Amino acid sequence: MAVNLLAIESSCDDTSASVIRDGIVLSNVVANQAVHQLYGGVVPEVASRAHQENILPVVSAALKKANVKPEELNAIAFTRGPGLIGSLIVGVSFAKGMALSLGIPMIEVNHMNAHVLAHFAEDPKPAFPFLCLTVSGGHTQIVLVKADDDMTVLGKTIDDAAGEAFDKTGKLLGLPYPAGPIIDKKAQLGEPTIVFPKPKVAGLNFSFSGLKTSIRYFLQKQRDENLNYIEENMNDICRSVQDRIVSVLLEKLETAAKQTSINEIAIAGGVSANSALRSGLTDLGNKNGWNTYIPAFQYCTDNAGMIGVAAYFKYLKADFVGHEVMPSARI
Ligand code: KG4
Ligand code: ZN
Repeated sequence: MAVNLLAIESSCDDTSASVIRDGIVLSNVVANQAVHQLYGGVVPEVASRAHQENILPVVSAALKKANVKPEELNAIAFTRGPGLIGSLIVGVSFAKGMALSLGIPMIEVNHMNAHVLAHFAEDPKPAFPFLCLTVSGGHTQIVLVKADDDMTVLGKTIDDAAGEAFDKTGKLLGLPYPAGPIIDKKAQLGEPTIVFPKPKVAGLNFSFSGLKTSIRYFLQKQRDENLNYIEENMNDICRSVQDRIVSVLLEKLETAAKQTSINEIAIAGGVSANSALRSGLTDLGNKNGWNTYIPAFQYCTDNAGMIGVAAYFKYLKADFVGHEVMPSARI
């Protein structure tokens, strides 16, 4: 008998639902919340309300697209955290209500683990143990993945996340939120004419807040001389900032690979959609003889498909949770 899971993701500003059959993603529906563009970042209260509006249509669309009826579901998976608590509450409560009404079990999923396990949605799949650079709007981690349920963070950011560095730079440049994809596009038309300082952090940890400050001072200084500096040099600024962020990420990843002697290397999370990071990893992999794993775009940014894929590992172990389960902003 086939195993059908419904997965729900609502940790930040995207409402997503997915149906997974025997570990294979049948549908992966994502409703973005454009409303946050007005504010230049995610407003938690606004995000919760938008999840509330989106969740029923998104779940219905995911079931319809997969051609699966609610009665055919075997379990419901949801993101328990980390994330915005008000956003998580919507997904968790919806999952509880639906699981209760259908009389089926629930599976809790850690959002960060799911970004890593998104690599099991498609072939080729990494072999354990592998290293995963997980880079999103909230996190920057190098993770040693020994098994689906055995992950150790070897290094992480001590301040801003890589995605945050893109988004905050975008704000300084007057770009809408989220700026990461826009900077990526503009960078492809620019040259790396500005060399921003490299953050100095020991070991495998990262720091991006100093970079943001140096960009701010650099732009202020240039604009004192030429008010149109940003507009006239937008593509080059984007390229220079992106090059710096990507080079820092890849340098630490290379160090981690050397230290652990692992040559199965993956990237995950929203920033793994970045074209320079993707091509940079491929080049580094060729140089070092790594097997590299880059997720398809739909599995980079937040999506319920990855929650379902992570949940299927747990389903096979009958690793379910009771209805007393609560969302957790920090896990
Ligand atoms: O994983 P994700 O969807 O949400 C979190 O869990 O945070 O990641 C969102 C982040 C945002 O900061 C966004 O600007 C960034 O991923 N991002 C990108 C690109 N696409 C998304 N950053 C750089 N280049 C991209 N192409
Ligand atoms: Zn995420």
